[in-house]
Amino acid sequence: MVNRSDIETFWTRGDIHSRIHKAMSEAGLNDRKLEIEDLFPIDQYHARGIAATVDLGKRMPIYENQRIIDIGCGLGGPARYFAKQFRCFITGIDITPSFIEIGNKFNNLTSMSKQVSLQIGNGETLDFEDETFDGGYSQHVTMNIKNRKEFFLEAFRVLKKETFFAFSEHGLGPEGNPIFPLPWADTAEMSFLFSPESTIALLEEVGFHDIQIIETSEKYISGYEKMINTKSKKENPILGIHVIGGATMKQRSRNSMQCIKEKRTLPFEIVCKK
Ligand SMILES: C[S@@+](CC[C@H](N)C(=O)[O-])C[C@H]1O[C@@H](n2cnc3c(N)ncnc32)[C@H](O)[C@@H]1O
Repeated sequence: MVNRSDIETFWTRGDIHSRIHKAMSEAGLNDRKLEIEDLFPIDQYHARGIAATVDLGKRMPIYENQRIIDIGCGLGGPARYFAKQFRCFITGIDITPSFIEIGNKFNNLTSMSKQVSLQIGNGETLDFEDETFDGGYSQHVTMNIKNRKEFFLEAFRVLKKETFFAFSEHGLGPEGNPIFPLPWADTAEMSFLFSPESTIALLEEVGFHDIQIIETSEKYISGYEKMINTKSKKENPILGIHVIGGATMKQRSRNSMQCIKEKRTLPFEIVCKK
């Protein structure tokens, strides 16, 4: 695993608490109750924002009152959306402590604390008993996971039998050799990409079956284009992924778009069964 303080430094990029407080003040969102939708521009920490979360949700068989795990939950935006959408209970874990602190504050502000609970944790060694959850997902996390088999084994272990595991990620494309910095890593030291074929083989080895994969390159290219083509600073919305991702977010996104276009990387979604 990459050093924990390097991960915190990478994901938070300085004083994330102050940046969020300032942006929310300017947007008139501080000191009042919020709807989960108010936070979508900053709490969906991945390319394509809420649109990607909605797409993943359409593929997940989640039912009312189920208990679901979100591995690498970030600020908890996807967990709040799915909890509201499916009327289920979500436990999110993430390795970045500041994200968990802010995410739980967001749960309070949006009155979602009863349905969503976030805690610090590592996806490679989950702190839950075997067969605890009715389903699980992980959105744009696995690119940071070197020990991918251990990560899949842990997801498999904490899921009940006959349940699902879903995830989206940027995999390794046929051309390989990604250009850094990228949204999930400034250098190759934090980036561990696997091809769709080797990902499927690993999932099978761990015991998952009925593996359904869809490639999402075109969606990500147009999502990145939309974000990058915000012409001037004036046109940048107050709230946006840049609040969390910092000053280099645009360049990292531009590199990610180029990587997809040149088939160095290949984004995909997988839903499989235990
Ligand atoms: C691109 S963000 C995605 C956050 C969230 N899933 C979302 O879609 O909004 C990647 C997240 O993975 C988390 N992460 C990276 N390595 C992890 C690990 N080993 N265990 C748990 N979380 C991890 C990071 O802290 C970060 O919050």
